[in-house]
Amino acid sequence: MCGIVGYVGGQSALDVVIAGLRRLEYRGYDSAGVAVLSDGSMAAAKKAGKLVNLEKELDGRPLPTGSAGIGHTRWATHGGPTDANAHPHLDNAGRVAVVHNGIIENFAPLRAELAERGHTLESETDTEVVSHLLAEEFSSCGDLAEAMRLVCRRLEGAFTLVAVHADQPDVVVGARRNSPLVVGVGEGEAFLASDVAAFIAHTRSAIELGQDQVVELRRDGVTVTDFDGAPADVRSYHVDWDASAAEKGGYDYFMLKEIAEQPKAVADTLLGRIDGGGSLRLDELRIPDAVLREAHKVVIVACGTAFHAGLIAKYAIEHWTRVPCEVELASEFRYRDPILDQRTLVIAISQSGETMDTLMALRHARAQGARVLAVCNTNGSTIPRESDGVLYTHAGPEVAVASTKAFLTQLVAVYLLALYLGQVRGTKWGDEIRSVVRDLARIADDVDRVLETMEPVRELARSLADKDTVLFLGRHVGYPVALEGALKLKELAYMHAEGFAAGELKHGPIALIEEDLPVVVVVPSPRGRSVLHDKIVSNIQEIRARGARTIVIAEEGDEAVTPYADHLIRIPATPVLLQPMVSTVPLQVFACELATARGNEVDQPRNLAKSVTVE
Ligand code: AGP
Repeated sequence: MCGIVGYVGGQSALDVVIAGLRRLEYRGYDSAGVAVLSDGSMAAAKKAGKLVNLEKELDGRPLPTGSAGIGHTRWATHGGPTDANAHPHLDNAGRVAVVHNGIIENFAPLRAELAERGHTLESETDTEVVSHLLAEEFSSCGDLAEAMRLVCRRLEGAFTLVAVHADQPDVVVGARRNSPLVVGVGEGEAFLASDVAAFIAHTRSAIELGQDQVVELRRDGVTVTDFDGAPADVRSYHVDWDASAAEKGGYDYFMLKEIAEQPKAVADTLLGRIDGGGSLRLDELRIPDAVLREAHKVVIVACGTAFHAGLIAKYAIEHWTRVPCEVELASEFRYRDPILDQRTLVIAISQSGETMDTLMALRHARAQGARVLAVCNTNGSTIPRESDGVLYTHAGPEVAVASTKAFLTQLVAVYLLALYLGQVRGTKWGDEIRSVVRDLARIADDVDRVLETMEPVRELARSLADKDTVLFLGRHVGYPVALEGALKLKELAYMHAEGFAAGELKHGPIALIEEDLPVVVVVPSPRGRSVLHDKIVSNIQEIRARGARTIVIAEEGDEAVTPYADHLIRIPATPVLLQPMVSTVPLQVFACELATARGNEVDQPRNLAKSVTVE
C-alpha cells in the first residue's frame, strides 16, 4: 500500500519522481522521500507526514535534479511514520538507496547478520536491511541488477523494491514479488511505479512485471529477468486512462468526482459485453464454458466494499443459476479450511487487484484445485494475473480511498457473470437474459437521476454532523447496502455506524434505539416479495415508536413508507435485484457530505490506504 516511483531519462529525475508521487499519495501518506543520482553522487531527502512536508524540505534544501531517481510515499507497517523510518533507505556509505512496498518477513535474522558484519542500521523498518545487503552484493559483483537478484533470493515475504547505486548512474533497478510494480517505456526514458497513474502523463506504453522478476531500466531500454538472471517473458500493454482521468476534474475531492462518474463507469463496464441480439459476450473470461457448466458451487472472496458487492452477487447468482453461492471475507477464508475442489468456481472481487487478504485467499483456492475468476478494476494487477480468468470493471482510476464507482461497477460485473452462468448453464432463457440486460443498460440513467436529487441528502448529512451514531437497516439485497452505507460512514466520518438485517432488530439491536437516533432504512421494492416490503415498513414503525429519526430510502411511488419517514429519499423503481445500483448512491453522498461537515480528510481518511497489500 505504499507508492513507489523510479525514473531514468533526460528530464529532471527529481521533478518526474515528485510529480509521480503526487499521483500515488493515496497509496499511503505517512511519510515520503526521494533519492537522485547526479554526477556520480547520491542525494536523498525524506520526511514524515504527507508529501507536502517533503516538498517543503526540498524548498529549503534543494537536491540536484539528476537523471535517475526513485521516490516513495509510505503507509507504515514496520516502524512508525517518522523521518528515520521514511524511505528511501541508504547503506552506511550512502551509495545505495532503496524504496520498498510490502513486508520482508525474514528481516530480523538478516538485520542481526548485518549488525554482526559491522553495519549500522538506523531505522525500525524491514526495508533498511535491503540497502545494506545490496551494498554488500554490489561491492562483489559490481552490477546493481545482479546484486538485486542475489538479495531477492534471500528475502521472504511480499516486496516490490526499487533501487539506485551512485556507482551506476542512469540505471534504476526494480524487483517484484507479490506487490505491484509496472514499467513505463518512453522515448529515451523509462519509469517504474506502483501503478500507472504515476507516469501516464509521460507515456502510455506499459509492461506488467510478473512474480519474482527483476527489471533494469536504462535510457535506451528495459531488461527483465527472473531472480536467477534468465530473461523473462513480459506482457506489454497500452494504458487507456487519460492523465486528466486521474485528476479531480474540478471537484473538491476525488471521491466527489468518482461518485459523479458512476453513470459512465457503469455504462463503460457494460460496453462490448452485450452483442447485437442482447446476448452476453464475455470472451475475456478465459474460463471455458464447460468449466462454468460443471461448477457445482460458487465461492466469492473479497474485503470491505468488495465483500458487500459479493453479498449482493449471491442473490443474483443463486436466483438466476440455482448454483449454491457462499460469500467469504477473504481474511477469514483460508483459515477455516474451506471445502474446495475442481468444480468450485471462486470469484475474487478487488478494485485494486493487490489486496493481500484476497490474493492469499485465491492462492489457497487455486492450490485446492478450484478455478478462480477475478473481478478487478486495475489492469495488470496481481489478482487478475494470478487468476484463471478475469472480468475487468471499467470504472477508471479510483483514487479516493473510499470505494464508490468501483463498487457499482463490481455489481455490474457480478450481475453479468451471474447472467452468463445462467446463459451457459441454460437456467435462463435468451429472452430472460435480454430482458435483464436491457434493465442493466438503463441503470446508468437511473444512477444519473439519483445524483441529480442529492441536495436534500447533503443538507440532512450536515444536520447530523454532531451525531456520534447512525444505524443502517435493510432486507434482501438492501441488507448488504446497509452494510456498505455503514462502512462508508465509518471510514469517512469516523462515526460509529452499523448495518443490520432489519429482521435482526428484535434479536438485539432494537435495544440501541433511543430518542432522535438516526436510522437509515433501505426499503426493498414493493414490486418484489411484498411480504418483505410489509415487514420492513413494520420495522420502521417499531423504531420510530421508540424515538428513532427515520431516514428512509424507498422507490418512487412507494407510499406505504411515507407516514413513518422523518426524511424520505426517493430512488427510481428498478428490478428487485438491481436496486443496490441506485440505493447505494445516496449513502455514498451522505457519508461524504457528513465527513466534509466534520472537517475530515475525505480522499485520504485517517489510518486507511487505498490498497491494503499486507495481511
Ligand atoms: C472501501 O471503501 C474501502 N476502501 C475498503 O473496504 C476496500 O473496499 C477493501 O480494502 C478492498 O479493496 P479492493 O477492492 O482493492 O480489494
